[in-house]
Amino acid sequence: MDRTLTLLGIESSCDDTAAAVVRARPGQTPEILSSVVLGQADLHAAFGGVVPEIAARAHAERLDGCVEEALAQADTGLGALDGIAVTAGPGLIGGVLSGVMLARGLAAARSIPLIPVNHLAGHALTPRLTDSVAFPYVMLLVSGGHCQFLLVEAVNRFRRLGGTIDDAPGEAFDKTAKLLALPQPGGPAVEAEAALGDASRFHFPRPLLDRDGCDMSFSGLKTALLRARDALVAEKGGISIQDRRDLCAGFQAAVAEVLAIKTARALAMVSDQSPKTLAVAGGVAANRAIRAMLETVSLRAGIAFLAPPLRLCTDNGAMIAWAGLEQLRAGFVPQPGFTARPRWPLDETAPALLGSGKKGAKA
Ligand code: KG4
Ligand code: ZN
Repeated sequence: MDRTLTLLGIESSCDDTAAAVVRARPGQTPEILSSVVLGQADLHAAFGGVVPEIAARAHAERLDGCVEEALAQADTGLGALDGIAVTAGPGLIGGVLSGVMLARGLAAARSIPLIPVNHLAGHALTPRLTDSVAFPYVMLLVSGGHCQFLLVEAVNRFRRLGGTIDDAPGEAFDKTAKLLALPQPGGPAVEAEAALGDASRFHFPRPLLDRDGCDMSFSGLKTALLRARDALVAEKGGISIQDRRDLCAGFQAAVAEVLAIKTARALAMVSDQSPKTLAVAGGVAANRAIRAMLETVSLRAGIAFLAPPLRLCTDNGAMIAWAGLEQLRAGFVPQPGFTARPRWPLDETAPALLGSGKKGAKA
């Protein structure tokens, strides 16, 4: 399809209520005309994780205003849209349903196409929105709810190469922060402490390195950290500021090394497809130590490394609008009777990964 397309994207699958307007003109770099993200961290903070009922209610209350704001900031109206893309899964079903119902109503009122988007496809296609990356490329999705390697072959063709069989790395950072009385979300706090610590003092496990492929496991790390913390408490009656820094540094080094080794394996697994780029998405991609390791690994494999701006790495509406736009452009005809799906693996042929994180079932 070679005409200008303007899409509204709606995202409500976890703890961010988001809407955005994206426009693509033929042969030009796509433009994000607006992107509004209303986080819910304050609502869930007291519970140490996302509470599905609270999330669903907050989405239902905020979605209308979020969409209005996105249209206003883009200086456009529903009448100017060529379609509405909405996250139809995977995620917490109450939130997904809120977004789908709103999008369905708006699309019906204006008789415009409604495009169901897989949330993970939104993340996986973002490098094409930000940097026009060509297929095929490798994507490492690494956040509080997701951790998987994908070979992105086409708009609707993804091959899952591996992923976590239990916790996502962001979850491990958050649990580590909790065990060490650091604030949530844990990632930035643990990274700041780690920068001042000695990573060689504590050696934490690097699970599944002996297993072929690029599946990962992060749940044992928190147990190891808990043991190390408790041993210090038993020995000295508490942990010092330097102990905490060293624990954080040891933990972060373990996560970074596992991700780096498994990334090298994922790239080797698809070397016959000659991907030119390794892209990352998800909140954990903000971590400088992890980013640096991944960059080294991809350069060593002769592949470019791409980390889109953080606001587009974490949950947002622009990635959903863009994924919908790519589908329309590729000529897919949206099916009106789709359902919202709590689980929706991008690669339906890959065996299910075990486990489910604090942010809902992993796909
Ligand atoms: O992608 P995201 O905003 O939300 C979802 O999980 O969907 O990712 C949030 C996760 C949290 O677990 C947070 O602790 C982690 O990303 N995170 C980090 C850093 N910044 C955020 N983890 C490690 N280092 C960071 N600098
Ligand atoms: Zn996400």
